[in-house]
Order: sequence, then structure tokens, then C-alpha cells
Amino acid sequence: MHPSLTILGSGYTAKALLPLAERRYAHVYATSRTPERHLSHLSPEQRIRFDLTRPDTWTSIPTATDVLWCFPAVPIDLVQRFADTISLGVRRLVILGSTSAYNDGSSSAYPPPWIDESATIDLTIPRVKSEELLRTAYGGVVLRVAGIYGPGRDPIEWIRTGRVSASRKYVNLIHVEDLGATCLAALTHADSGGVYNVSDGQPRTWNEICETVERRWNIRSSVSDESRPNGKRLSNNKMCELLDLDRAGLRHTDLFEALEAIQKNTLNEAGPSR
Ligand SMILES: NC(=O)c1ccc[n+]([C@@H]2O[C@H](COP(=O)([O-])OP(=O)(O)OC[C@H]3O[C@@H](n4cnc5c(N)ncnc54)[C@H](OP(=O)(O)O)[C@@H]3O)[C@@H](O)[C@H]2O)c1
Repeated sequence: MHPSLTILGSGYTAKALLPLAERRYAHVYATSRTPERHLSHLSPEQRIRFDLTRPDTWTSIPTATDVLWCFPAVPIDLVQRFADTISLGVRRLVILGSTSAYNDGSSSAYPPPWIDESATIDLTIPRVKSEELLRTAYGGVVLRVAGIYGPGRDPIEWIRTGRVSASRKYVNLIHVEDLGATCLAALTHADSGGVYNVSDGQPRTWNEICETVERRWNIRSSVSDESRPNGKRLSNNKMCELLDLDRAGLRHTDLFEALEAIQKNTLNEAGPSR
């Protein structure tokens, strides 16, 4: 068992991966800006008040734990001061970034070419600049994460409510359980300064997703104008190799099966209808 882990920012992903982290680490701590409201699911000794914008809270981070950074790392000057204050450079550090780091407006090819971790990133995006700092100066491992879905974050609801619409744009998604497993595998096995794309390896167009959702769940989608960018197709080969090192594998490669399971769970949680 590993000694201890601090999860910075206990939102959707952090909460979902907590059981897995507790199986691997003897002690798991999690932070919130309002721990009394957002960390009530944890024992009091696991709860830490932490706000990157309030340096007076930085000293509450336990010394020598591994660190999983689960919120956008901005602004860069605070990120750097914080990293020095808690000696991030000598800890195992994994940062959740985003696939928006890869510029998608440049290619007119359709379908868009596959991209791996060597693709150009956009350093004008503040969080990308900070992630590169944490990676190159402090040895952090950056996970470039696709759209996260799972229980309570359901693409079917995104379609129903018009948050997304049918278009030829490609989207890359990752189930929160697979993201959690990847975070743990990265904390254990990834090389310092490494970068990993995190997606299910099955880029789809919103047209395909919307059509299938309409056919299987009878939910109509709105249609978007065609002037949107083409999106990206993200290779996840490196991430799959990482999961292999952990004797794990991707569990949710079939989006529609995963959506079926989420819908069933939602219905079960709602209880029998009257
Ligand atoms: N959602 C997606 O589809 C997606 C896709 C790609 C990448 N990502 C990235 O993946 C990471 C995890 O995503 P998520 O959706 O699980 O995140 P989330 O639910 O938004 O949770 C992040 C938590 O971090 C805490 N936080 C925010 N600002 C902070 C600050 N200045 N100082 C300290 N704590 C702060 C907040 O908790 P408190 O309010 O309790 O402090 C927040 O709930 C994020 O970096 C996100 O940008 C997300």
C-alpha cells in the first residue's frame, strides 16, 4: 500500500475516484474551499480547507503526500508559489488537464487526423501554460482529459436540454470510472514529466451520438450550424499502455452501453413510479 495521497479540488472526478484511491493509499486527504459543505462524505481528519487563491490555506496541505490536482491550475504565478511552498517537485504529482490544449481550428481535413501526445499545444491558454510549468519544472504528469461523463453527467441529458446538438463535429469522451483508474495508474507508474491523453479511444460525431440516442431513447436533438470546427480524434494508445501496467483496462469503450447503464441507475435511484 502507498502511504498517502492529497486530492486538490474534490469535485466530480475526485469524488468518483475516492474508493479506488482508498484501496491503494493508507491515507487519502481531499481539499475544498468549503470543506464543511463539500467534504461531508469524508471523515473529519481527511478534510482539508484549501484555496489556491488564499496562500494562508497552503500550509494545511500534508507534507510528503502524493498529489492529484483536479481543478484548472491558474493563475500561473500562484501555481508556481504554491508548488514551491509545498515542495511539489519532490512528490509524485498528477495534474488533470484538458484536450482543449490541442488547437483544433487549424486543420480543414475531415475527418480530422488522429492526434497523439506529440501534437502541438496552445500555450496562450493560461491553464496549459501552468500545466507545462508543473510538468517541466516540477516533474508533474499531465493528463489531457476528454469530455468527462458518468452518473450525474449524462450526455443524454446534454442532448435533451440542448446543451449539445447534432453536428459533424467529432467529440472524445471518457467515463469517469476509467478516468479515475487512469489517475491512479499515472500516480503509480507514469514517468515524471509524462503526458497522456485520456479518452475512450472512440471519437464520434455528435450526429452519430444524437442519432443513436434518438433511436434508442426517443430523445430528439437540436441541430447545430455547420460552421463549427471539425473537432479532434484523440489517440489513447499511451493511456492504454499505462492501464496495462496497472493490470487494469478500459471498462467503458462502448458509449451507448455506458449510457444505458447510467439511465438504468438513474431510474433505480428515482425509485418505482406511482
Ligand atoms: N468536465 C469535463 O468534461 C472536463 C474535461 C476535460 C478536463 N476537465 C478538467 O478535469 C479536472 C476535473 O474536472 P471535474 O469536472 O471533476 O472538476 P470539478 O467537478 O469542477 O471539481 C473541481 C473542484 O476544485 C475545487 N476548486 C476550484 N477552484 C479552486 C481553487 N482556486 N482552489 C482550490 N480548489 C478549487 C472546487 O471545489 P470546492 O468548491 O469544494 O473548493 C471544484 O469543485 C478539472 O481541471 C477540469 O477542468 C474536465
